[in-house]
Amino acid sequence: MLKIGVLVSGGGTNLQAVIDAIEAGKINAEIVTVVSSKKDAYALERAKKYNIETLWISKKQFDSFEKYEDTLIEHFKSRNVGLIIFAGFMIVLSGRFTDAFKNKIINIHPSLIPSFCGSGFYGIKVHKAALEKGVKVTGATVHFVASGADTGPIIIQKAVEVKDGDTPEILQKRVMEQAEWIILPEAVDLFAKGKLVVENNIVRRVD
Ligand code: GAR
Repeated sequence: MLKIGVLVSGGGTNLQAVIDAIEAGKINAEIVTVVSSKKDAYALERAKKYNIETLWISKKQFDSFEKYEDTLIEHFKSRNVGLIIFAGFMIVLSGRFTDAFKNKIINIHPSLIPSFCGSGFYGIKVHKAALEKGVKVTGATVHFVASGADTGPIIIQKAVEVKDGDTPEILQKRVMEQAEWIILPEAVDLFAKGKLVVENNIVRRVD
């Protein structure tokens, strides 16, 4: 069975969506470890409820970013993970990490990439920028992770309507409910079933 490692930084609602899908028998995989960049991330509490191993590994604990990344690489290799999920993980890792797990890392981003993504676009800031631009449709993207923020082949996208009177918080909640919590488990399921093939940076689904 596929072993999954998850990197988180915050509330962990996307982690919860994957846990729920596994618990419901919709994904044939096991989350073996959850690593947070923040000590007090609620995502860690969510994982503990399911007896999943949790760790706090911060880049501040190391004298170089390379050592931080090497520690993460070693950790996930030692747990034999076949997939790493960035579920609200707010650190941009370099090619050192992403090359070690090529096309085996997926990220959920709260916009339709290539809109509102890249450096500085994360969490609530993404929705603030979408509202400032006045877009009428936004959404979420699940993609494989390559070096560089929010780059890498796109797996699934789902559009969500922007409504008059939306605040960043209201829009964030709608994007999570109508897109993120649906497409992240869907992508994990497709990956677990071996149905995703990457050719020339484009993801194709195979049956
Ligand atoms: C989610 O909206 C996720 O898409 C976003 O942060 C939130 C984390 O929520 N991720 C990024 O912006 C990454 N660039 P969660 O901790 O409740 O899953």
